[in-house]
Amino acid sequence: MKAFIVSLLVLCGLSTAVYAEGYQADIERGQVLATAQCESCHGNVVITMAKQFPNLKGQKIAYLNKQLVDFKTGLRVDPLMQAQVSALSSDQLQDVALFYSQQVTPNLSAN
Ligand code: HEC
Repeated sequence: MKAFIVSLLVLCGLSTAVYAEGYQADIERGQVLATAQCESCHGNVVITMAKQFPNLKGQKIAYLNKQLVDFKTGLRVDPLMQAQVSALSSDQLQDVALFYSQQVTPNLSAN
């Protein structure tokens, strides 16, 4: 049983970093994209001022990637975000999801 749980955890870990298509997300490309395109809204300072802008830092990679894909396919509707991801490839979405998942969650409790 213990071995089963351990292998399940290992599988879950792998599935977050390597997606079905076999693409290995690149954190450096994700950082470049985040700095150029996402931080203007999702940066620490901005999200404390703009209450409807969500924090992405430290969020689970699978969750982030799903939201980005859902925005791109129109399953999740938000004109701001759909415009942001419309020109991005699936690989770029995975890169930026990996980058944000590896960041430290800011302390928003003071705001
Ligand atoms: C113009 C401002 C703006 C920019 C630029 C922007 N976002 Fe967003 N983002 C938002 C807003 C507002 C929401 C909340 C949408 C909603 O209410 O459903 C959001 C939501 C999200 C979510 C869902 C978060 C959750 O908790 O469900 C993700 C993931 C995301 N953005 C990623 C990105 C990435 C990656 C980029 C850069 C490629 C980016 N955003 C650029 C404004 C922006």
